[in-house]
Amino acid sequence: MDGGTGCERMRYAAITGWGMAVPDRVLTNADLERMVETTDEWIASRTGIRERRVVGPNDSTTSLGSAAAKQALERAGLTANDIDLIVVATCTPDQFLVSQACLIQAEIGGNAGALDIGAACSGFVYALSQGSVYIQAGQAERVLVIGVDTLTRFVDWSDRSTCILFGDGAGAVVLEATDEPRGLLSTVLGADGAGSKHLYIPGWGGLVPESAELFPEYRPYLQMNGREVFRFAVRVMGDAAAEAVKRAGLSFADIDMLIPHQANLRIIDAAAERLNLPKEKVMVNIDRYGNTSAASIPIALVEAESSGRLKDGDNLVFVAFGGGLAWAAGVVRWGR
Ligand code: ACO
Repeated sequence: MDGGTGCERMRYAAITGWGMAVPDRVLTNADLERMVETTDEWIASRTGIRERRVVGPNDSTTSLGSAAAKQALERAGLTANDIDLIVVATCTPDQFLVSQACLIQAEIGGNAGALDIGAACSGFVYALSQGSVYIQAGQAERVLVIGVDTLTRFVDWSDRSTCILFGDGAGAVVLEATDEPRGLLSTVLGADGAGSKHLYIPGWGGLVPESAELFPEYRPYLQMNGREVFRFAVRVMGDAAAEAVKRAGLSFADIDMLIPHQANLRIIDAAAERLNLPKEKVMVNIDRYGNTSAASIPIALVEAESSGRLKDGDNLVFVAFGGGLAWAAGVVRWGR
């Protein structure tokens, strides 16, 4: 309350730091041509991907997530001791006990609360929403939000319909409380659990086969019905992004940049068309990274900033879809 007058002062969660990390190892479409029956032309024309980064023996979800987090903290002029909460979005944690957030905290330090969000490729927007809500409710002053995935560890490298799509990486942002209308202005979260059969990784949880004889057949690789996921994605990306703009009290003309999940260039183009945005207002880097799952939006955000495409007060739309099936969108006002 503001001096007991009945006027609530709104709290917002501004993005004050950002960072990204990708493995050094580059896997090009030409490399994939030597591994499975595919061509650079097929991959580039169907997905927009030309190369992706792939984890090596010294990389992990922890190492990538920690590197991105350290950059974001440095950018914000903070240390891990200043952070109240770490929220990590991932569907490829290094282990299930303990949480990925605790594993990253062990690398970066501090004693913030630490929690994981499992919403696959939509995870970063879910995590951003979670972190912002803690700040808006006055339960935290500074939150570190990380999106990180190493899906190439879970793809079947002999399955051309999936192995061409994914790359590894991490992106992170620092959120800080402010009275200015900055950070996440609106959020749309959704899921359709009935669609979980279209995109999943079997096993690695409680449902591993009990019988040892079953293990030779056991294939803990990402399974995907590409056409179903494609149809779902085109529908929800446009709808969720449009709803986020409406909930922020804005119109499409107020949007300065769309920063979509980078899964397929054709899906990105469909979402941009729905918002009536020209190409120069859409951030695309799928050609160099492929689908990095929860990392794709924060990596695209960092590259949009470093290439000078963001200015103070810009209205950005984040929108994502993925395993769940889940989707998430939000309008973010850039700047402190
Ligand atoms: N190279 C050459 N041919 C291929 C390849 C390949 N890498 N992969 C599939 N094909 C063939 C298929 O076998 C098929 O051949 P057929 O007609 O003889 O049967 C043909 O190409 C067409 O296959 P489709 O699956 O219809 O191709 P489509 O145009 O749908 O593109 C793709 C496939 C790129 C996977 C697309 O469906 C897509 O992007 N879907 C969404 C995937 C996605 O975004 N997943 C998100 C995951 S996010 C998360 O949460 C992890």
